[in-house]
Amino acid sequence: SSTLGAAAADSGRYFGAAVAAGRLGDSTYSTILDREFNMITPENEMKWDTTEPSRGNFNFGPADQIVSHASAHGQRMRGHTLVWHGQLPGWVSSIGDAGTLRSVMNNHITTVMNHYKGKIYAWDVVNEAFADGSTQHRSSVFQNVLGNGFIEEAFRTARSVDPAAKLCYNDYNIENWSDAKTQGVYAMVKDFKARGVPIDCVGLQSHFGSGGPPAGFQTTLSNFAALGVDVQITELDIAQASLTAYGNTVRACMNVARCTGITVWGIRDSDSWRSGENPLLFDGNGNKKPAYDAVLSALGGE
Ligand code: G3I
Repeated sequence: SSTLGAAAADSGRYFGAAVAAGRLGDSTYSTILDREFNMITPENEMKWDTTEPSRGNFNFGPADQIVSHASAHGQRMRGHTLVWHGQLPGWVSSIGDAGTLRSVMNNHITTVMNHYKGKIYAWDVVNEAFADGSTQHRSSVFQNVLGNGFIEEAFRTARSVDPAAKLCYNDYNIENWSDAKTQGVYAMVKDFKARGVPIDCVGLQSHFGSGGPPAGFQTTLSNFAALGVDVQITELDIAQASLTAYGNTVRACMNVARCTGITVWGIRDSDSWRSGENPLLFDGNGNKKPAYDAVLSALGGE
């Protein structure tokens, strides 16, 4: 196959991109999107500050634009994200009462998931809940007010709302098997599986430096998979788009049966949050970069 999405599909995987609603009207952008990618993650539009800017007032307009685009072009969707300390409106971060926050969190999950029921392949139910360099959760309003159980509560609520959606835990700096943070997330997933807490997948964001994935990246993917979850590379970008690094990343996924898909965090370098690092597969004019060919060939395409 000669596109990223089709080549990934040949091995039962997907190849996705983070998409910004405001760029869909740019025909260079949407042409590449619809030719190359068969999974979409909204870059910002499903985050809490956009979807529920004040309590009980939901705004689905920007994300709906992306979901309609995906459905018109045969692309599946990853929902990003329901519970995260980032892009969280002030009215949530200032809640100090556990009963109130529990009901606000569960209402947010329920209302957003119900709006998109049947249209989302996988949800990042909880994003970035662990602290760097540690096996423990990071400080956040959810952790500080609800305690360790907030992640389990979020996943149980999510399963009850849309039993057909895959439920993922998503994080960064969990790519190196020997990192404490990786071990912390691994222990949580193992515990969830042992106790029957619903979880279907782990997303490894994979924002890499020019050296690419850490040694042991494939071991991390296969060790998570061995717990009985799918793994996905969910936000891939690599400083200067080193083709060796991109090829190594994709090959690690291809070598793990339950690594079911890869998403790059943007389309052109000019769309990237890492300004000046040129970390993506297309240049600012929408031309394929050398890393594109490395990825296509690692996927088994040509
Ligand atoms: O929409 C406002 C606009 O109204 C305002 O005028 C402008 C002024 O700064 O800001 C706009 O919001 C920006 C938003 O992107 C939408 O463009 C924010 O400032 C900016 O901080 C925000 O950055 C996003 C970042 O998450 C914030 O946490 C990036 O686009 C997005 O790529 C990035 O994505 C995250 C993943 O969700 C989670 N993993 C890490 C990844 C990279 O940071």
